[in-house]
Amino acid sequence: MQRRPIIIDTDPGQDDAVAILLALASPEELDVLGITAVAGNVPLELTTVNSLKMTELARRRDVPVYAGCDRPMQRPLITAEYVHGETGIDGADLPEPATAPAKGHAVEFIVDTVMSSEPGSITLCALGPLTNLGTAIAMQPQLTGRLAEIVLMGGAFFEGGNTTPAAEFNILVDPDAADIVFRSGAPITVMPLDVTHQALILRRHLDRFGALGPVGEAVRGMLTFYERYDVEKYGIEGGPLHDPCVIAYLIRPELFSGRAVNVEVEVNSTLTLGMTVVDWWGMTDRPIIATWMREVDAAGFFDLLLERIGRL
Ligand code: BDR
Ligand code: CA
Repeated sequence: MQRRPIIIDTDPGQDDAVAILLALASPEELDVLGITAVAGNVPLELTTVNSLKMTELARRRDVPVYAGCDRPMQRPLITAEYVHGETGIDGADLPEPATAPAKGHAVEFIVDTVMSSEPGSITLCALGPLTNLGTAIAMQPQLTGRLAEIVLMGGAFFEGGNTTPAAEFNILVDPDAADIVFRSGAPITVMPLDVTHQALILRRHLDRFGALGPVGEAVRGMLTFYERYDVEKYGIEGGPLHDPCVIAYLIRPELFSGRAVNVEVEVNSTLTLGMTVVDWWGMTDRPIIATWMREVDAAGFFDLLLERIGRL
């Protein structure tokens, strides 16, 4: 497999943190050009610091972290400390990073990197609200024609929302940016709740992470804290591990299956703001714009994650 150059756009968040570690532990498949932080689960200052903590935990200070947009394109920021804790990565006791964020704005980094790269080479991995990507596309619309793919965690159709009855968190926080991304014409692969709700963190996974050494122990601590909210809310055995599905797909695409569909984002209704409306059955003549994932081999996904985190 060819090594894939990627930019990770993220709002850590414990599940984002694990996704970053998975990418940094997979240099045969992935070349992480940079990490761009966005406001989401917690405010931007924290998502930036948390991204730096992950590059340090993985001993990859060479990977630059850029701070990006501190609020959605047109609306006030909604955060989720009630899920992720005050720091965003509660559960791991990690030192303050010794490295500083890279100079420049995340959106500039995305635009400059994609526009100066070989056309069709770079994949954008979006793990949070789509504000940085939407802003980059609004600034430089030709960007989308030069991408290999956008792979994003966001949206829900069959499962319903996780933040309102209709909407998933990442899309709800910045539906206007999501609308820009989905209409952009870039090749898009979506990991919605329909698939991430099958990737449940079970006790046996936590035990195996805990046995891997200091990085695995940090992962065990973060995921133990993170999953408690969903376990209680849904009354299930383990919380869904959303964002690492994006990175796992890049490494082992055969773990996932879905369908090419039209997706549109609701940006007007107060009742269903941020809903991702998927034409799963091809009932309209709207264009096919994305691959909407529906199934994951959860055992294979956790085996991959454990094997890779064990390398760090
Ligand atoms: C998404 O929202 C955040 O809470 C997670 O990090 C994930 O990206 C799930 O809805
Ligand atoms: Ca996230």
